[in-house]
Amino acid sequence: MLMAKSILVTGGAGYIGSHTVLQLLLGGYRTVIVDNLDNSSEIAVRRVKELAGDLGKNLSFHKLDLRDKRALEKVFASTPFEAVIHFAGLKAVGESVQKPLLYYDNNLVGTITLLEVMAAHGCKKLVFSSSATVYGWPKEVPCTEEFPLSAANPYGRTKLFIEEICRDIYSSDSEWKIILLRYFNPVGAHPSGYIGEDPRGIPNNLMPFVQQVAVGRRPALTVFGTDYSTKDGTGVRDYIHVVDLADGHIAALRKLDAAGIGCEVYNLGTGKGTSVLEMVAAFEKASGKKIPLVMSARRPGDAEIVYASTHKAEKELNWKAKYGIDEMCRDQWNWASKNPYGYEPPKSN
Ligand code: NAD
Ligand code: UFG
Repeated sequence: MLMAKSILVTGGAGYIGSHTVLQLLLGGYRTVIVDNLDNSSEIAVRRVKELAGDLGKNLSFHKLDLRDKRALEKVFASTPFEAVIHFAGLKAVGESVQKPLLYYDNNLVGTITLLEVMAAHGCKKLVFSSSATVYGWPKEVPCTEEFPLSAANPYGRTKLFIEEICRDIYSSDSEWKIILLRYFNPVGAHPSGYIGEDPRGIPNNLMPFVQQVAVGRRPALTVFGTDYSTKDGTGVRDYIHVVDLADGHIAALRKLDAAGIGCEVYNLGTGKGTSVLEMVAAFEKASGKKIPLVMSARRPGDAEIVYASTHKAEKELNWKAKYGIDEMCRDQWNWASKNPYGYEPPKSN
C-alpha cells in the first residue's frame, strides 16, 4: 500500500490554513500543523479533525513559533515531509505600519528559519501565501502575474521580500520547487458553519466587519470611499470563497510534482470585481439582516479596483473557483449565526 504523503502546514490553525488542512485531510494527505496560536484558536484544529471524520486521525498539531528553530527542527526530525504550505504570518496592514519591526521579525525571520530547516532536512517543496497586495495600486485590471510589483506598507513589503527570497533560493539551488500563491480577497466559511474566520479585536476587512454588524456586535458598517470611479462609487475587489482558495492549494501541491516547476507564481481569485455595496446587498439577501451603513471618506492606502486574471491558474494548475458571492455570503452567515462570537464566546462576568 502507498504511504500517504505528509504535509507541514504553518499557520494551519488560522482562517485560510484551517480550511486548507481540512481539504488536505479529505484528499488523503497526512497533515501536521505548526502554529503559535497568536491569531487563532486550538478549537479550530479540533473542529477540523471532527469534520474530517475518520481521516481526522491523520492530523497532528504542534504549538510553536516558527522563529523557534530548535522546536521546528524537532518536528522535521520526527516526520519526513513531502512539502510545506506556509501560511504563518501577521497580516494586519494598519498594525504593520505602527509596528514594522514586529512584522519584519515575525514574517521574515519566521520564513527564513523555516526555509533553513527545510533545506537542512532535504524538504525543498514549498507553497507560500502571497497576496494581491504585491500589485500595489494596479494601473489596469485584471491583474496578471507579470504586473510590476510594489508594496504600500510593511505588511505588503514582507510579502514582496519573501517572494524575492524564494526566487533567490531557487536561483541558488534548482532542487527547490516553489509556488507563490497571490490571494485576492478570501471570504466565506466552510458550508458546515463549523469553521470560519475569527479575527481578534476590531476587524480590518470588509466581510468580518459586516458579519459582526449582522450579529449585533457593532452598530454599522463604515463604507470607506463613495467617490471611486466604479459602478456605484465604492471600492471593487475580487472576493473568493475560502473553500475554493483551499482547493487551490491542493492544486498547487499537485503541480509541485511536475518536472521543471522552479519558482512559479499564480493568482488565486475569481476574476470578477464586486463593489462594497454589491457585497453588502448580497449579504443582506443571504442573512435577511439589514446592515446599517455610514458613508465615509476613502481609507488611506486603498486601491480603487483590484481583480485577478485567473488565466494562468486555470491553465497550469487546472483549478478554477466554483463559488460566487451568493454562496460566499450564505456560508459566511451560516458560520456567523452559529458562532456569533467566533470560537471562544466572551466569558460572562
Ligand atoms: P490568520 O491570522 O487567520 O492565520 C495565520 C496563522 O499564522 C495564525 O493562526 C497565527 O497564529 C499563525 N502565526 C503567525 N505568526 C506565527 C509564527 N511566527 N509562528 C507560528 N504561527 C504563526 O490569517 P489568514 O487569513 O488565514 O492568512 C494566512 C496567510 O495568508 C497569511 O500569510 C496572510 O498574510 C496571507 N493572506 C491572507 C489574506 C486575507 O485576506 N486573509 C489575503 C492575502 C494573503
Ligand atoms: N471596506 C469598507 N469598510 C470596512 C472595511 C473595508 O468599506 O470596514 C472596503 C475597503 O475600502 C475596500 C473593500 O471594502 O474597498 C475591501 O476591503 P478589505 O480590507 O476587506 O480588503 P482589501 O482588498 O483592502 O485588503 C485585503 C487585505 C490585505 C491584502 C489585500 C489583497 O486586508 O492585506 O486584501 O489580498 F493585501
